[in-house]
Amino acid sequence: MLLPGMNCYMSALRASPFDDMLLDDGNNTWSPLLKSGKYPRKKDWLMTFYEQYTMWDGTPVYPPVENNFAQMFWKHDQWDDQLEKAMAFDLIGAHRLKPVHDRSVGGETLAFVIAQNDLSAMEVRAGFAKYGSNMYFSAEGMPLMIVTTDGREVLRGDKDWQYWKFVWRSTLVSSITLVDHLHLAHFHSANTLARAIRKSLHHDHPIRRFLSIFTFGSIWVNNIAMHTLLGPKHVLHRSLPFQEFEGLSDAVPSGFPDLWDWHKDILDDEAFEALPAKIKETPYYADGRLLVQALKRLLDDVSGIYAPDECENGRIKDLDIVRFRLALVEEAVEGGYTSTHSQLGGLNCSDQNNNMILQSVLANLWTVTGWHRHVGTVGDYYADPDLAAFGWKEGELGPRPKQTMLMSVVAAFTSTPQPKLIEDYTHVFKGMQHEDKMVAAWKKFRGELYEIQKEIRTRNAKRTIKNAHMDPAMVECSVAV
Ligand SMILES: [Fe+2]
Repeated sequence: MLLPGMNCYMSALRASPFDDMLLDDGNNTWSPLLKSGKYPRKKDWLMTFYEQYTMWDGTPVYPPVENNFAQMFWKHDQWDDQLEKAMAFDLIGAHRLKPVHDRSVGGETLAFVIAQNDLSAMEVRAGFAKYGSNMYFSAEGMPLMIVTTDGREVLRGDKDWQYWKFVWRSTLVSSITLVDHLHLAHFHSANTLARAIRKSLHHDHPIRRFLSIFTFGSIWVNNIAMHTLLGPKHVLHRSLPFQEFEGLSDAVPSGFPDLWDWHKDILDDEAFEALPAKIKETPYYADGRLLVQALKRLLDDVSGIYAPDECENGRIKDLDIVRFRLALVEEAVEGGYTSTHSQLGGLNCSDQNNNMILQSVLANLWTVTGWHRHVGTVGDYYADPDLAAFGWKEGELGPRPKQTMLMSVVAAFTSTPQPKLIEDYTHVFKGMQHEDKMVAAWKKFRGELYEIQKEIRTRNAKRTIKNAHMDPAMVECSVAV
């Protein structure tokens, strides 16, 4: 009864009237809500909806504060430029940083950019502002210039500076939520992996058992996401400003490069070493590399345990593995993704083919663990309507109350606690082929994760902006949330 019941309930929600009320100055404005003076800021009004509820384990429904941005950066009713530096270098934007060459403004060198103006081509519903804007940073990471969605150059201190910073912050967090989190982690990676494993490997196959740790809860949560986040007229559609919402689900996957190429800067040793020092030092890269290397060693260990059973005289003798390789191709093609899976022409056990499979699995395991936590931690941003929004009226420095409520609901229900990577999953290997070796491999992996945890906690003790998103006690083992 559960799934049909839920599907029915979700359909009923989608049938409710779809009215943005964006231009309704009588019912969708802040002044009546704040005029009593009871709530010093919009954030204080918003949080009253969540403070009264806890989950079964007593933890708050809305994710707890990690960095109190308002305390650090809200000065004289506007945001200090250190906020954008923190978002770009210390937190969620680091993977989008690109170096800039030979460009300066007002005598200062532009060293880095996070460019988003390709999104400005997306049409929006009546009254909403467009997504986009490119922000340029100094060598020290301070924002110096924004190129707006209509191509104007706005410099630090210009009268529109605060508005365009808001546009840039909102576009950054929202597009990461939509593209990097929802489409890439949940559907491109977790969905492909979960389906390929279950379609091709017998229930007691050791590789299926092992990989099930990393696909735990993925099918369940993606079923909910298909309604709430991909489904027309549901909460994400109503939160985002885009006119053609359904078309996004076709357009976004076709624009993805191969998963390995997407993550090459953090997965590939040479590509990482070629990055500018300032980018390599960001917590995303510096801490993330520790996790990537531990995952790679785990995969090498597992491969070493099972490769002799899978291959004989350079050919695959395990037919489940043949089916698995084919299923990875099929699932990628069916999802409309570009993938090196489709280059796995030979189903032999050549080093080249084996390395390609290991690369592909590593890219997936990274996407559903460290990457998912990096792009999926957005509670601090969406708790504060002055900081960022999914959708806002063009020219207004913040979303209206209805749009604020919609985005906070999305932030809250995508933050429920789930099993962490550092936990003991050796029970999964019980009774399977080479159980002892797999238990030893997982114990070794956990030992490394504890060392990584210790290192990240030492680093965070010295950081002004805390970032524990690569701490294996915070990273989930799958995209179950
Ligand atoms: Fe997620």
